[in-house]
Amino acid sequence: MLPVEVIERKRDGAELSPRDLTDFLDGFTRGDVGDYQVAAFLMAVYYRGLSDAELLALTRTILGSGRTLSFDDGGPPAVDKHSTGGVGDKVSLVLAPLLAEAGLRVPMMSGRGLGHSGGTLDKLAAIPGFRTDLGLAEFRDVLAEVGCAMIGQTPEIAPLDGRLYALRDVTATVPSIPLIAASIVAKKVAEGIGALVLDVKFGAGAFLPDREDALRLAETLVGLAGRLGLPATALLTSMEAPLGATVGNALEVREAVACLRGEGPGDLRTVTLALGSEALVAAGAATDPDAAGARLSRLLDGGGPLARFRRLVEAQGGDPRVVDDPDGLPAASFRHEVRATRSGVVSRLDARALGWAAVELGAGRRRIEDEVDPSVGLEIVTPVGAGVEAGGVVVRIHARTEEEAGRAAGRVAGAIEIADEAPPPGPLVWRKVGAGP
Ligand code: URA
Repeated sequence: MLPVEVIERKRDGAELSPRDLTDFLDGFTRGDVGDYQVAAFLMAVYYRGLSDAELLALTRTILGSGRTLSFDDGGPPAVDKHSTGGVGDKVSLVLAPLLAEAGLRVPMMSGRGLGHSGGTLDKLAAIPGFRTDLGLAEFRDVLAEVGCAMIGQTPEIAPLDGRLYALRDVTATVPSIPLIAASIVAKKVAEGIGALVLDVKFGAGAFLPDREDALRLAETLVGLAGRLGLPATALLTSMEAPLGATVGNALEVREAVACLRGEGPGDLRTVTLALGSEALVAAGAATDPDAAGARLSRLLDGGGPLARFRRLVEAQGGDPRVVDDPDGLPAASFRHEVRATRSGVVSRLDARALGWAAVELGAGRRRIEDEVDPSVGLEIVTPVGAGVEAGGVVVRIHARTEEEAGRAAGRVAGAIEIADEAPPPGPLVWRKVGAGP
C-alpha cells in the first residue's frame, strides 16, 4: 500500500492491517516515507484512534526499531516507574534509590521536559557534573554498583519513538491514548525490566486532564504491557496542582533530597510510597501494598535511600556534596514574591499555568534546541487548602532577572485562586489499575 493510501485509510476510520502499518513506519525509518506524511498519519490516529491489533503492531514496530535489554541473570528483580508527565514531579529522584534500598534493581530511563511538564533528565542535570548520557555498558556498571541508574533514552532503545515523539510534539498529537501507550510501553519493554509501575496523571497539569480519559489511558497501558509480557500496575494520581512545593530543576532536586531525608512535603512522600509499594508487589518482593508501603516508609526515615542517592550521584559523575549541602546547587539571583490579593484560603494552584510560567522563566524549553536554566523556578509558599492574609506570599519566583520575574508573575498570579473556604480535598491517589485488589 502506498503511504498516501495508509494515511487515507486511517483518515477515513478504516482499520489498517498490521503489515501495512509496519511497512509504513519502516518506510519512515528508511527515509522512504516523509515526515509530513507521518505527521498527517499521527493526526489521523489522534482523531480516529487505533484498534487493539493496530496498537499492538505500532508498539511492536517501535520496539523492533532498536535493541531489547535483558536482566534475566538471576540478580534482583528489575523494575521501573514511568509517569505520563506532570509539574513538580520529582518522584523518580526519590523512588529509584528507595527501591534499590528495598532490594530491587532500578534501570531507569527518563525523558526531558516536554511542553509545560518537567523531565527527570533536566532535574538530574541540575546536579553539577551529573551525566545522564551513559552508554549501555556504563549504565549496567552503575546499576550493578548502586542498584539503580538513571539515564536518558539511548539511540539503541526504541529509536523510532524519539522520531515519532518529536513530530507529535510539534503537531499537537501528544494527547492521544494509543500514541502515548505505544510510546511508553515500547520503551519499557525494550528496557528488559520484569515489572513496571505507571503514574498516570489526571488534572489541570496532565496531558489528559479528564479523569475518565486518564483512566482509559491507564487501562490501555496496563493491557498493552501485559500483552507484550510485561506485568504492569498503574496508579492514577492528581496533577491538579504541582506535586510538592517546587517547580524548576535545582529547586526540585533540593526538595527530593529533603524527602530522602524523611522531610519534605506530604504529597510527594505519599505518591512516592504508593508507587513504590506497587513496584514491590509487581516485582514479587511483597504481597500486600500496605505492608510494602510501611516498609518503604521506614527505609526512607532510616537514611539508607539518601546514602544510596549520594552513591548514585557520585557514580554518574555528579558532585555528591550537594546531597549534604543543597546550597551547592545552582541558585537564581533574583526573587519575586507573588502575593494574595485578598484574605482567604488558597483554593487552586493551576499546575498547567504554573508549569508554563516555569518554562517561561527558563526551567523548560520553548524550542527543542533551547538550553534549560537549572536555577530558575517557583516555590509554593502557601499550598492549596492553606489560609493566607491579603498581601501574604503565595508563590516565590526564582528568576535570572527582574524583567523575567515580572513576565512570569502575571501568569503565576493567574494560576492562583483564593476562596472563603478550603475546597474539599480531591484524591491524591485516585485509583489503581492492574493486577491485584
Ligand atoms: N511519555 C512518553 O514517554 N510518551 C508519551 O507519549 C507521553 C509521555
